[in-house]
Amino acid sequence: MKVFATQYTEGLKEAAKTLKEQGIELSWHSGDELLSDQKLNDHAKNYDALITMLCDNIDDSFLESNSHLKVIANYAVGTNNISLKKAKGLGIAVGNTPDVLTHTTAETALTLLLMVARKIPFSMNEVTKGNWKTWEPTLYNGYDLRGKTLGLIGDGRIGQSFSQMAKSLWNCRVITYPYKDRGVSQEEFFTEADIVSLHCPLNENSLHLIDHQFINQMKKPFLFINTARGACHVEADLLAGLKKGKILGIGLDVTDPEPMPSISPLLKRDDVVVFPHIGSATDKTRREMTAICLKNIEAGLKGEPLPFPA
Ligand code: DGY
Repeated sequence: MKVFATQYTEGLKEAAKTLKEQGIELSWHSGDELLSDQKLNDHAKNYDALITMLCDNIDDSFLESNSHLKVIANYAVGTNNISLKKAKGLGIAVGNTPDVLTHTTAETALTLLLMVARKIPFSMNEVTKGNWKTWEPTLYNGYDLRGKTLGLIGDGRIGQSFSQMAKSLWNCRVITYPYKDRGVSQEEFFTEADIVSLHCPLNENSLHLIDHQFINQMKKPFLFINTARGACHVEADLLAGLKKGKILGIGLDVTDPEPMPSISPLLKRDDVVVFPHIGSATDKTRREMTAICLKNIEAGLKGEPLPFPA
């Protein structure tokens, strides 16, 4: 059996030795050049299983031409890069990496929120530019988070973890955007939320959800945080929202496209913080994600149900 990881992840070297004893050959893409969709498509023909990254495009046509695959373990909790319906139809098992990255990703949302609320990029730039002359009571003042209403979009594991942090740190009231039969009414969400934070999967309900219409319906100026997927927001509309004062500040761990082009007008602003999709980026979490992928791979190769199915 042969397994291919489209990028090296922490822990794969050690795992390769152990798997070899079980007759499983594990290898990974190396070198600086990214695997193009075409190259991955060609390469996958030689393998029984793949460990894929959230930037790999595992769409219908990829799956159709690689229907021999037994299992795909996505190294992410999000699986919007994989056509799950097609994989199911072809009998290819797909797994993801829930739980282990929950706290780490919620912490990233917290970091973005604090940085935006306390105007950290602006204040830091002032120091770097030599503009910090003396202590002044009116300079660099931020936005108080205590007692504010946090509007969550997506109240799964990560949303709930972030909401607990906001409740215990700032005694925030937490409300959830209406989805299926959960959450407050849209009216209440748009009226009450001071902060909007995205923790939902990218799907047909959340694609471009945060657009000019959404922004214009918000009654109070708000802080916007996205650690979910960039395609859930419309960047031109976010910029317009900032310019109109509807949005007070933005923290993004995800952008559309990724990477965000360095010429993006959002990057010119002091009220925007952009991280390079580091939601789950700690050594421990990344190792645990590898371990989960390998559990999914081992089960899938044996034809057993995956322990972490997508
Ligand atoms: C995921 O796992 O889907 C996250 O986006 C990683 O940060």
